[in-house]
Amino acid sequence: MTTTLIKNVRAIDAQQDQVQDILMVDGKFAAAPTHLSPDEIIDGTGLQFFPGCIDPHVHFREPGFEYKEDLASGSKAALSAGVTSFFDMPNTDPPTFTRALLADKKALANEKSWANYGFYFGAGPNNQAEIEKVSGVPGTKLYLNTTTGNLKMDNEDRWREIFKLGKTVALHAEGPVFERAVQIWQECGAQGHLHLCHASLRREVELVRSLKKDPELAGKISIEVCPHHLFMTHEDREKHGAFCCMKPELATQDDLDAMWEGVEDGTIDFFATDHAPHTKEEKLSEQTFYGIPGVETFFPLLYTEFVKRGYSLSQLSAMTSANTFKNFKVQNRNGLLSHGSVADGFLYDPTIKKAINADELHSKCEWTPFEGYPLTGQLVSTWLKGELKYAKSQFHGRAEGEALEF
Ligand code: NCD
Ligand code: ZN
Ligand code: ZN
Ligand code: ZN
Repeated sequence: MTTTLIKNVRAIDAQQDQVQDILMVDGKFAAAPTHLSPDEIIDGTGLQFFPGCIDPHVHFREPGFEYKEDLASGSKAALSAGVTSFFDMPNTDPPTFTRALLADKKALANEKSWANYGFYFGAGPNNQAEIEKVSGVPGTKLYLNTTTGNLKMDNEDRWREIFKLGKTVALHAEGPVFERAVQIWQECGAQGHLHLCHASLRREVELVRSLKKDPELAGKISIEVCPHHLFMTHEDREKHGAFCCMKPELATQDDLDAMWEGVEDGTIDFFATDHAPHTKEEKLSEQTFYGIPGVETFFPLLYTEFVKRGYSLSQLSAMTSANTFKNFKVQNRNGLLSHGSVADGFLYDPTIKKAINADELHSKCEWTPFEGYPLTGQLVSTWLKGELKYAKSQFHGRAEGEALEF
């Protein structure tokens, strides 16, 4: 294993922000330089070091839609952008409705994934026994509105059966549908954890804010928001057409403001991208394809806006890493730089100013709705378990992402 010392770097995680040396030994962060002489010494002066981000909402499209993305291309894109862990969604072909199909996905990822992985389980019309028995997942995903894939579930009796299992449920539920789901979840005793994916409306943030005031519910409900709902409105949809078409749709300036208020007061727990690639040809076709890519623009966009707003970079790290690992009770990663934590992390140069350019991205999706957005800072290199995996547009080593444990 490689021993790496990064000297004099600004080390930022959810719990600290200070200039120090970062030492990676045996795949872990170590406290102080040991007797070992490092294999690699890097001058971190003027640079920043963050724990690897987790994107808890991606669609890497495997199996079934590998022409849009696959576990190798998606996870490499992730690593190149400081995202060392991800949760992938079940709307693949076939959808992840059985433990056997989940095991197939994990086996594929074990072979192909460059980043650490978790897979959501899918709620289907007839897989209650599978949901009951499944383990090793962040949760069960329930689609309650129309979106990509045919997983929408209208039958409220099925919602009840699932809530009554008392397990973690993640919802695609918009506005009034989310309100109805919360009502039913509470009627069923609010036994398990309820997570709202890709919040987009003021009313969703306000409902979650009020629920979190109830001490009985506070630790049981969480909410994620994606950069596109923090940066764009329906005006972008009108301007850019299909390339700004996703579910939930881009909303109003007032909804966007509500997202940032939720970030400021802690109502929003963490960020996700909902990386949902479709090809350019699909987007330009007569048919509607909901979804946009995002995993590679995730950290730099949020970083840029946090700096502009004068928000704390520790909070940024918490909301792109530690909070998410904690919320889903991930056992083998914590998103911190502390002694003994797994050495997934990345070096960031805050002095570089660049605009987003799709030609420089690694996803199979060869476009981005954020084309031309000015960024503050740029990723320098990414490490996974203390091994250099990406630097200067080059990938190093092999696909060695690990299964996240729950
Ligand atoms: C997602 C997709 O394409 O899989 N699309 C989207 O517009 N967000 C599905 C989803 O997350 O709803
Ligand atoms: Zn969704
Ligand atoms: Zn725009
Ligand atoms: Zn999604």
